[in-house]
Amino acid sequence: MSSHDTLKHSPAILGGLIVFIWYAVVFVRRKWKQNRFAWENQCMPPYSIPSKSFGLNIILETIAAAKQHKVLELGLNRFDTYGNTFKAQNLTNTIITTREPQNIKTVLSLRFKDYGLGNRIQTFGPLLGHGIFTADGEHWAQSRSMVRSSFSKDRVTHLETFEELMRDLFKLIPTDGSTVDLQDLFFCYTMDSATDFLFGHSTHTLRRYGHDAGDQTSWDFGSAFNYAQDAIAMRGRMGPLKIFYRDRKAHDANRRCQELVEDFVDQALRYRQELDNEACPEKNPTISMPKYLFLYKLAQKTGDRIRIRDELMNVLLAGRDTTASLLSNMFFMLAKTPEVWTKLGVEISMLEGCAPTYDQLRNLTYLKYCMNESLRLHPVVPVNARFAVTDTVLPVGGGKDGQSPVFVPKGTTVRYNLYSMHRREDFYGPDAHVYRPERWEKLRTGWEYLPFNGGPRICVGQQYALTEAAYVTVRLAQQFPILESRDSNSWRENLTFTLCSENGCKVSLQQV
Ligand code: HEM
Repeated sequence: MSSHDTLKHSPAILGGLIVFIWYAVVFVRRKWKQNRFAWENQCMPPYSIPSKSFGLNIILETIAAAKQHKVLELGLNRFDTYGNTFKAQNLTNTIITTREPQNIKTVLSLRFKDYGLGNRIQTFGPLLGHGIFTADGEHWAQSRSMVRSSFSKDRVTHLETFEELMRDLFKLIPTDGSTVDLQDLFFCYTMDSATDFLFGHSTHTLRRYGHDAGDQTSWDFGSAFNYAQDAIAMRGRMGPLKIFYRDRKAHDANRRCQELVEDFVDQALRYRQELDNEACPEKNPTISMPKYLFLYKLAQKTGDRIRIRDELMNVLLAGRDTTASLLSNMFFMLAKTPEVWTKLGVEISMLEGCAPTYDQLRNLTYLKYCMNESLRLHPVVPVNARFAVTDTVLPVGGGKDGQSPVFVPKGTTVRYNLYSMHRREDFYGPDAHVYRPERWEKLRTGWEYLPFNGGPRICVGQQYALTEAAYVTVRLAQQFPILESRDSNSWRENLTFTLCSENGCKVSLQQV
């Protein structure tokens, strides 16, 4: 039979051929459009890291660094070797990694619509489900407007809860100069304050601190939350291989965390039932809105248990770990630099031992420098990423000198590394690796300092977090003029989505 006859007699072959040609045309057309787009924007390719087996070597290198708590150090070395923007293959995915402020500004703000969170839901989903941290588009806009309404100025300036929790915290700090791990305590403190602020009643984990020890049969929320986040970090590092990741303990930890927020879910559902009641603030303007505004807003929006639970879990992650990490990273460094603690004590002495007001906190300039410097050296969210949802362009990073625009094809991940950007010597000087709050006397920063993100997804809780961290620091400094490190090692990373100290924050606090 001739080939002409084969085609004539086999519709399947003909159909296959048509599909193949159609795909080939679409592919060539897409490539042609992309090349033209790249050419019109004068793009040049960034440096490409040599990879073996489609980038498997890079994944394995990162996992090995994670075991030694050196992922951030590895990232920094890569920038020093390959330049401020480079490209790498991650099995099926292309990743452009950058520490250029202009690129970060473009991704987060100028071309915000060109990017989404990509597969973050696959990595974070088992713990967080669908909420503000994992959602894009309309879902994200709704979540954001609910969360934002909780952060009005009069609520953020309200400091009574911080003071109440300080009383709980003081009870757990030995006054005889023996060693205490502040990191554990800060995590409890922020858990208690975030639940009070967002959900209307505190979990009071500080009051139970130490009493749950020895119960090996059940997770407490903190340990379960920490374990679940370790699993998130691991899935993130595995890239496309995460589909093979199995960890029963992580599964239990996720379930435990979800169970623990169920009480708050019930509470939200009770408010929802009351919405029809005449005694609700919407219907009766003489009744003031409840202080647990976030829970209330959530209840107005939806009666879906899972949605409520996920949203709560998302803001809890945002509110607990971040501020606690800032505090413990900062206290780790303060304990290593007694001259800074003394100087801070002098500034704080103008309060004459009284609990500070919101305005007084804002005027403590050196304290602000200490917090800025901690967030610079140990940014609490040190590495982040966005996913191109359309063909787009970064302003710099291409060509031999790294100054040309870079073409970003749809489907590419752009990872930005704040830890490495905050250590660039061209921005922060030759001592960029040193904790030196004084540098903030002269520094004026733009996008090269970005601990709270920028653009439409900028951190909602920034003011609240800085107020809380400042409050805790002031009260501790007033109570304990002497702070000494009880850890002979230098700071080591404990990196999940957030960054704290692997060895905790072991110090001694004394009252002279
Ligand atoms: C030192 C403390 C904090 C730091 C450094 C910090 C940093 C950040 C960063 C970098 C993001 C962007 C994440 C992303 O888009 O991928 C973010 C988002 C967010 N933060 Fe914070 N945060 C802090 C404290 C808080 C607190 C205390 C709360 C709430 C109680 C909070 C609520 C949020 C929320 C809800 C988002 C999501 C915003 C959105 O996607 O629209 N943060 N934060």
